[in-house]
Amino acid sequence: MLREYLLLPLLASYATAVQISVAKSGGNVTTSLQYGVMEEEINHCGEGGLYAELIRNRAFQGSTTYPSNLDAWSAVGGSALSLQNLSNPLSSALPTSVRVEGNGTSGLTNVGFWGIDVRPQKYSGSFYVKGSYKGSFIASLQSITNGEVFATAKVSSKSVADDWVQHDFTLTPKKTAPSTNNTFSLTFDASKASGGSLDFNLISLFPPTWNNRPNGMRRDLMQAMRDLNPKFLRFPGGNNLEGNSIDGRWKWNETIGPLKSRPGRATTWGYGETGGMGLVEYMEWCDDLGLEPILAVWSGLALNRQVVSKANIGVYVQDALNELEFLTGSVDTEYGALRAKYGHPEPWTIRFVEVGNEDSLNGGASSYKSYRFAAFYDAITEKYPDIQVIASTLDITLPGNAGGDYHLYDIPDNFVKKFNLFDSYSDEHPILLGEIAATEWNNGKGVDWSDTHFSLYPWWLASVSEAVFLLGAERNADKIIGTTYAPYFMNLDSYEWSPTMISFNANPDDTAKSTSWHVYSLFNDNHMTNTLPATSNSSFGPLYYATGLNNKTNSHIFKAAVYNSTADVPVSLTFEGIGRGTTADLTILTAPSGFSMNEVGGPNTVESQTTKIKAGKQGVFSFSLPNLSVAVLTTK
Ligand SMILES: *[C@@H]1O[C@H](CO)[C@@H](O)[C@H](O)[C@H]1NC(C)=O
Ligand SMILES: *[C@@H]1O[C@H](CO)[C@@H](O)[C@H](O)[C@H]1NC(C)=O
Ligand SMILES: *[C@@H]1O[C@H](CO)[C@@H](O)[C@H](O)[C@H]1NC(C)=O
Ligand SMILES: *[C@@H]1O[C@H](CO)[C@@H](O)[C@H](O)[C@H]1NC(C)=O
Ligand SMILES: *[C@@H]1O[C@H](CO)[C@@H](O)[C@H](O)[C@H]1NC(C)=O
Ligand SMILES: *[C@@H]1O[C@H](CO)[C@@H](O)[C@H](O)[C@H]1NC(C)=O
Ligand SMILES: *[C@@H]1O[C@H](CO)[C@@H](O)[C@H](O)[C@H]1NC(C)=O
Ligand SMILES: *[C@@H]1O[C@H](CO)[C@@H](O)[C@H](O)[C@H]1NC(C)=O
Ligand SMILES: *[C@@H]1O[C@H](CO)[C@@H](O)[C@H](O)[C@H]1NC(C)=O
Repeated sequence: MLREYLLLPLLASYATAVQISVAKSGGNVTTSLQYGVMEEEINHCGEGGLYAELIRNRAFQGSTTYPSNLDAWSAVGGSALSLQNLSNPLSSALPTSVRVEGNGTSGLTNVGFWGIDVRPQKYSGSFYVKGSYKGSFIASLQSITNGEVFATAKVSSKSVADDWVQHDFTLTPKKTAPSTNNTFSLTFDASKASGGSLDFNLISLFPPTWNNRPNGMRRDLMQAMRDLNPKFLRFPGGNNLEGNSIDGRWKWNETIGPLKSRPGRATTWGYGETGGMGLVEYMEWCDDLGLEPILAVWSGLALNRQVVSKANIGVYVQDALNELEFLTGSVDTEYGALRAKYGHPEPWTIRFVEVGNEDSLNGGASSYKSYRFAAFYDAITEKYPDIQVIASTLDITLPGNAGGDYHLYDIPDNFVKKFNLFDSYSDEHPILLGEIAATEWNNGKGVDWSDTHFSLYPWWLASVSEAVFLLGAERNADKIIGTTYAPYFMNLDSYEWSPTMISFNANPDDTAKSTSWHVYSLFNDNHMTNTLPATSNSSFGPLYYATGLNNKTNSHIFKAAVYNSTADVPVSLTFEGIGRGTTADLTILTAPSGFSMNEVGGPNTVESQTTKIKAGKQGVFSFSLPNLSVAVLTTK
């Protein structure tokens, strides 16, 4: 929106004007990737979220924590469903299948990840079946509410008695269903099946995906991320990487290859995952959005406080090296050849590896300091000297050029109070701000970890406080590797942690970009290649800012946020060398109140106003920023 009223003379105000003079040199080169994305299998971020699979519990996978079950499935008509561990299963990774027994029309129905989005587009499906059957299968999408059928496909049986045979089909609805309250069904005529039963496994259905990748990602969520213009992806967690036990850790080599070779596992968030969104899918996500991968490798600590001993850590170090070879090795290497076999002969480039996650917690601190981090750091830097290794904590003496990861979940006031956190930090060991979010109301204390009733969504005051903290990081853009909000996604129908950056349900039209999304988006879209020092006649607060230059566009940049002001803050801003008459764009984000939130299915509450302003006498840009606002000024 372009509005002119900000050009009017400033309203009388009792707030003191802030004079800021930006020098033309003396700053630092921005090495920070700045804003990225954190992936963590939580809130059905991947399964039932980004991963576009529509069928929940598609392969009846059990895990160390959760037994196989029939969640999300029900029988069609009078048929009966039972889980079976057959002597010849689909694969050793998928030992359990479902037997459908019946008379006449029989089959099974899936309710999806709390609904299935049905619209006129091509859905690609497949299933494996075992058992002799001379007839057809019917795949269909229909309404739960009134049974209306939106699409059907007749699939001629190729099935045989003693082997698993895959069948493919497509479904193309002619219209958009009125809601996502729909199911997927697969039926057959049991009277034509030998013994009146058939065994099924790996029943899958995908809508069109981002870049039309098979086994790909949900388009609307990729778009919401793309719109934010992120620069890196930290994956695969987080607690998700650590696992609830040593055996429950995220194992990279169980997430690659054909889907039927992926056993799945228990996530640390109360549900199982299929392994369908694995290591290669993460890399394709990076490729598709131009993200720098920040790969986290398992460091020998699980959430149940199990720690791998010094004598045994070598096995896991080797596993991390194997993973790096899989991603970056030539096709002549053992694991590079495996990558080629799975369709990616071209190696990827990995520049950042993080060792573990939050290793200072859960009883991990002493072993991480004494041998775990060093074992990984030494082995990785020896073989890959160009890789920036990052410790998962700053609470350790960092060797060489190692970086550290800093996480901050806090109340908004504490985000603001940490504006200058990095000013006195040396640039010897760069910092990844790997998980950042204002999660709880200003309670005068800080986060109460026993109270998980955090806000469902980021709220505007919290987002402004995050902006203040981000400005502190931008002022130190030579010391920060990158910054990401966390967690990033939440399925409103099944989640463990709020608030998050982007929230959604089964209906892509309802996806909500949070108030924080708008802050990150504005800052990302106005990247400074270099910081420039500024002097002011006033100290920081209630106005906080960072100043610099984009040397590609030769634009001078001022980024700011106002928090806790009793009135609008008048600003007189000059850039050395920028004279009277120079024009600039001033974009100001505000919201109706500090409590404004962007809800799933609701409107965007963040208002963005861009105004053209002109430098006056002595090159002064004069403008005024309201309480609880975030702003960027860029010169032309
Ligand atoms: C800073 O300078 C502005 C004029 O540019 C003036 O209005 C304001 O009072 C000064 N503030 C202080 C604290 O001196
Ligand atoms: C299948 O085997 C798993 C262990 O591998 C066991 O937990 C489960 O109960 C078995 N299921 C059936 C239906 O026999
Ligand atoms: C199929 O019909 C037979 C004979 O009437 C009956 O015994 C059996 O229980 C039926 N099966 C199912 C799944 O309804
Ligand atoms: C979906 O349909 C079921 C059955 O009619 C109903 O109980 C439920 O409330 C519906 N849910 C939504 C979100 O419409
Ligand atoms: C994964 O690698 C580990 C060794 O690092 C090995 O023990 C295991 O068998 C491998 N799993 C698969 C499925 O290849
Ligand atoms: C904001 O103002 C409140 C009330 O005066 C005060 O308690 C709080 O510390 C202030 N927060 C910051 C970050 O200055
Ligand atoms: C540039 O970096 C140095 C060292 O980290 C620091 O002292 C200085 O304040 C930085 N300059 C700016 C403009 O941030
Ligand atoms: C911009 O600054 C960077 C870092 O100082 C430098 O590498 C690059 O050459 C500069 N580009 C231009 C167009 O000045
Ligand atoms: C300014 O924002 C703070 C929160 O930072 C809020 O408590 C206060 O009421 C606001 N003041 C005005 C004048 O709007």
